[in-house]
Amino acid sequence: MAKVKFLKENVEIDVPENVNLRDFCLENDLKLYLFPENVVNCRGKGFCQLCRIKVDNPEKLSPPTEKEICTVGFEGPQYRLACQCSIAENCELQIITRPRRIWGWREHPVYQGLIKEEEKAFGF
Ligand code: FES
Repeated sequence: MAKVKFLKENVEIDVPENVNLRDFCLENDLKLYLFPENVVNCRGKGFCQLCRIKVDNPEKLSPPTEKEICTVGFEGPQYRLACQCSIAENCELQIITRPRRIWGWREHPVYQGLIKEEEKAFGF
């Protein structure tokens, strides 16, 4: 059992090991998607990227799948797809659901400010 703090939702929940994080979030009413993503997503197939999460301690999760490497891999190890990962061991973890995207406009100063704002708010 891992103690997971979902920072945007401000809740701390015990998450069993080896349970798919997308399934866990949906079962526990954690806002992994907002409208319209809650309707239009790939249902855990690993290609829409709408279930992106950011974790403070990525090595505590299952190893990244090929789909994660191909989709969010370039953003860094902290970015994962909830539908493709589970918690691998007993630990404490912090998760940001729906983190800001860092591709596309990432070099733009305004966007950099928004990313830094989120990092400052949540500490990573
Ligand atoms: S639900 Fe589509 S990538 Fe995870």
